[in-house]
This record gives sequence, structure tokens and C-alpha cells, in this order.
Amino acid sequence: LSSGEFQKRLLAWFDQDGRHDLPWQSPRTPYRVWVSEIMLQQTQVTTVMDYFNRFMARFPTLEALARAPQDEVLHLWTGLGYYARARNLHKAAQVALAEHGGELPVESEAALMALPGIGRSTAGAIIAQSIGKRAVILDGNVKRSLTRLHAVPGWPGRPAVERKLWALADYYTPATRLADYTQAMMDFGATLCKRGQPACAACPFSDVCLALACGEVQHYPESKPK
Ligand code: ADE
Repeated sequence: LSSGEFQKRLLAWFDQDGRHDLPWQSPRTPYRVWVSEIMLQQTQVTTVMDYFNRFMARFPTLEALARAPQDEVLHLWTGLGYYARARNLHKAAQVALAEHGGELPVESEAALMALPGIGRSTAGAIIAQSIGKRAVILDGNVKRSLTRLHAVPGWPGRPAVERKLWALADYYTPATRLADYTQAMMDFGATLCKRGQPACAACPFSDVCLALACGEVQHYPESKPK
């Protein structure tokens, strides 16, 4: 499938069935997108929404977050789990305040990745969604979708497999509509190309999916070897 055709089908699906009313989608500032992406790293969208809205009511700006006591940040995180995320978020806000004038350094993927809690995919998601600059994401949802579409063998945690998936993710990433494309890839993996019961009958790529053609959708991605 050409990257242009992939983008066309994905965005047509997203325009019709994707999520367009998430709280962090308007206004889509770097700070709001960042907080949402950290919350979404290990938690589902439906759970995150209320936490996100409470968090923004209490810490409306990066500076407000940086200057807050850590126990207040952790308190607002209670129930979300993975509390290292909250501590890293707080720490990163303080670094951004001290070193980047209170702004997230969204013009530089490397500068974003230097902040605690921001890996390569999260950096890409923040850049694409907040300033619409071309950046590539590869989270668990995207890895699953791409391994199925291309029947990529091997455990995605293996460096060689991960390299191949980054190359595929880069190939499909468009030069325009970056925020929509990025959200579409996440929504696609979360709602259609699901881990348990993928909705192949509703998938815009069912005619070109190699895993489906082999009747092996459930075999991808391969799990970690013991
Ligand atoms: N997981 C990580 N980021 C996400 C997003 N923006 N939407 C849905 N799921 C996500």
C-alpha cells in the first residue's frame, strides 16, 4: 500500500469514526497535549478524561505545575497508577521552567526527549498534535497495527523488529494533517485493530492486511520469548 493511499484511507475513517471531542484536542496547546499523553501512556482514554480536566483546573499552566508541591500533583494522580509518571511530569515542568523559559521545547524532538518521562514516541505525539510538525509515533497501538498489516515477525521489543516498525511508521507518516493523522493512528489501534477482538470487518485495510490474509491476526504481534 502506498503511503498516500494509507493516509487517505486512515483519515477518511478518522473523519467519520475517530474521536474529535477529547478534552485535550481544544485548545491543543503543548502543555495540554503533553499532560494528556503522559496520562494516556498506560491508561485508557475514558479514564483519563476526568483526571485530565481536574488536573487542568488545578494546574492550568506549566508554571503552575512546576511551582506546586509534589504531594498535590500526586494527589491529583491518585487512582491513575504508575506514579512515576506524575513525579516525572512534575520534574519535567520544573526543568522546562528553569531551562526553556516555562515552555515545552516542542520545536526539538531531542530537547523533548531529554525531559523525564518523554520517550521517542511521546515526543513525536506531542510535536505532531501541538504544532502539527511532522513527527513519527510508535506506541503499543501503532506497533500492533503495523505488525499485523505487514505480518512483521518477531517480538516488537527486539531492537531489529523495533527498527523495522519505526521505518514503517515513518514511511506512512504524512507531511500534512499531522495532528489528525497521529490521533487517527492511536484511535485505529485502540478501537479497530484491538489486541483482543480486532474489528477486521470494519477495517479500511482489510483487503491489504497480510496477517488477515493468512488468518493470523491473533498471532501478531508476537509475544516476548521466554
Ligand atoms: N494513547 C496515547 N496517546 C493517545 C491519544 N492521543 N489518544 C488515544 N490514545 C492514546
